[in-house]
Amino acid sequence: TPKKAPPMPGDVLVHAVGEKAGQPVTVADLGEELVRAWPMGKDKEGNDVVRDGEPTGILAIYKFPAGEIKAPTRLEGTIDGQIVAYSDRCTHAGCNVGEGKAPSGKGIMNCPCHSGQYEPREGCKVIGGPPPAPLPQLPIKLEGDKLVATSFFVSRPFGYATDEDWVKYT
Ligand code: FES
Repeated sequence: TPKKAPPMPGDVLVHAVGEKAGQPVTVADLGEELVRAWPMGKDKEGNDVVRDGEPTGILAIYKFPAGEIKAPTRLEGTIDGQIVAYSDRCTHAGCNVGEGKAPSGKGIMNCPCHSGQYEPREGCKVIGGPPPAPLPQLPIKLEGDKLVATSFFVSRPFGYATDEDWVKYT
């Protein structure tokens, strides 16, 4: 069903939590702290459907100062090299990943389950703990004031058992 589908091209990213839950995420909502979102698509009748029935569709969105986002982030999948979206489901065992701090004091992503750490400025590469792979980036673009997915995740997210499981969406 559309509710249980993964993110698809054209989906609008909407807030997952807080008083804006269900409303489109705008640039003004974003910063260096994680904003959690769901993709929102359409059902057959053309009505909006938040895809919150597929746990692997949960997203983490950031806006960093210009120049901070580097490879292996795919810059063409960011908005102006500053706004980037990732799967927010840990590649280790599927927990939602939250905020953390590096010893330098810099904000990073930290998984509450087994202390997996990711660097969202560098393609969410693993910088600590047991995760076997980066959090997959979801390529996005700006349409008006909304963030819109342009493809499926660029690498295999948690919950897709084989590469073929995610390649069929790409
Ligand atoms: Fe995230 Fe284990 S589930 S580190």
